[in-house]
Amino acid sequence: MECRVCGEPLAPFMSFGPMPIANGFLAPQDIPLDTYRFELATASCKRCRTFQLIDQPPPDKMFHANYAFFSQTSRVMQDHFENFALDIAQRLLARRDDPFVVELGSNDGIMLRHIAKRGVRHLGVEPSANVAAAARNNGVNTTSVFFDAESAANIREQYGPADVIAAANVMCHIGSIRDVAAGIALLLRDDGVLIFEDPYLGEVIAKTSYDQIYDEHVFLFSLESVRAIFGPHGLSVIDVAPQTTHGGSMRYTLGKTEHHEVSSTVTELEVAESRQGLGDDQTYDRFRQSCEASKAALNRLLGELRGAGKRIAGYGATSKSTTVLNYCGIGPELIEFISDTTPIKQGKVTPGTHISVKPPSCFSEPYPDFAVLFAWNHAAEIIAKEKAFLESGGRFITFVPEVGMIQA
Ligand code: TMP
Ligand code: ZN
Repeated sequence: MECRVCGEPLAPFMSFGPMPIANGFLAPQDIPLDTYRFELATASCKRCRTFQLIDQPPPDKMFHANYAFFSQTSRVMQDHFENFALDIAQRLLARRDDPFVVELGSNDGIMLRHIAKRGVRHLGVEPSANVAAAARNNGVNTTSVFFDAESAANIREQYGPADVIAAANVMCHIGSIRDVAAGIALLLRDDGVLIFEDPYLGEVIAKTSYDQIYDEHVFLFSLESVRAIFGPHGLSVIDVAPQTTHGGSMRYTLGKTEHHEVSSTVTELEVAESRQGLGDDQTYDRFRQSCEASKAALNRLLGELRGAGKRIAGYGATSKSTTVLNYCGIGPELIEFISDTTPIKQGKVTPGTHISVKPPSCFSEPYPDFAVLFAWNHAAEIIAKEKAFLESGGRFITFVPEVGMIQA
């Protein structure tokens, strides 16, 4: 396997084992005898330092008509994307005449509808047909194609160049990132900007949040790797802004160097990455050891609690939980069910580990003794919402940044 960014041969520093598709929630009667799995192994390219999966399942196995992920699951995320749209409108669209905004992986229109509402010309590019249909219902002009150099050229021909190209939690999904970068360079107006955000490698390493590693996240970016990807296309990072979403993300703003000034935040992040050792092999050896320690601690805790006859549920059938459950070998013998608000996941079982996913109404009937907080990135919102669970003596079990408990 070669680096998807620079072509250097890749050597994995660890494997999380054979993994099913993270969003492959199935009804019990639809589980095939032989579940598709791929080896979830990770590498940090020694040349460009892009953190990536060795193998990634083919896109049609991950994103299809029944794709179970809809962005509009949480109030906090809705507010986050409204603010993202506001940032684009105020910082990037001001003083532009009849601007055109393109969003890649626009999902159900969670961000772009706030741009649409302002009467700004826009286009969402969303390959999942069912999700794209939901976006159109939200009044968001959406095309259901994969974004690459060819579709970028088609979009430019139909709509003209883009003033802003935005993407949230999308870029890190695309293995053929070089094609996407070429498409962006082609579609972007000369003084246009690319703004995107994704889970940040520095946060994953700092918090041992290895559950950010699953089939869809073929990359975990850092400033260094973003530069390696877009630099060859004449795009420089002009601003960076950390985000609290998805357990710690980074928002990168890029543009053609001659048209923009570079913010001091960029040099500050460069220094921070060097201090954290994101470019050092030892950092990844230590990360592997931390993952192994986390797995052992979680198994020990759940085993002890079950041994003592405690009832344990899960909270949030997240994509991330697929890595945790399969890597740690946790199934229905330890976790009775997982509560989740997403209707399309309810009545189904978790990929590879076959734990039932149930609607939140089941969570309190009666409350379990413990609930593993798989949706730990929404902890504040969930803890506020589940006061009654905590006050009745229930405890959340966390595993990021360390295995531990949250109680009233
Ligand atoms: P995400 O972290 O990828 O956004 O996924 C969050 C998952 O957790 C999603 O399946 C919805 C679920 N969830 C709940 O079940 N209850 C909640 O209160 C929240 C915030 C999320
Ligand atoms: Zn590389």
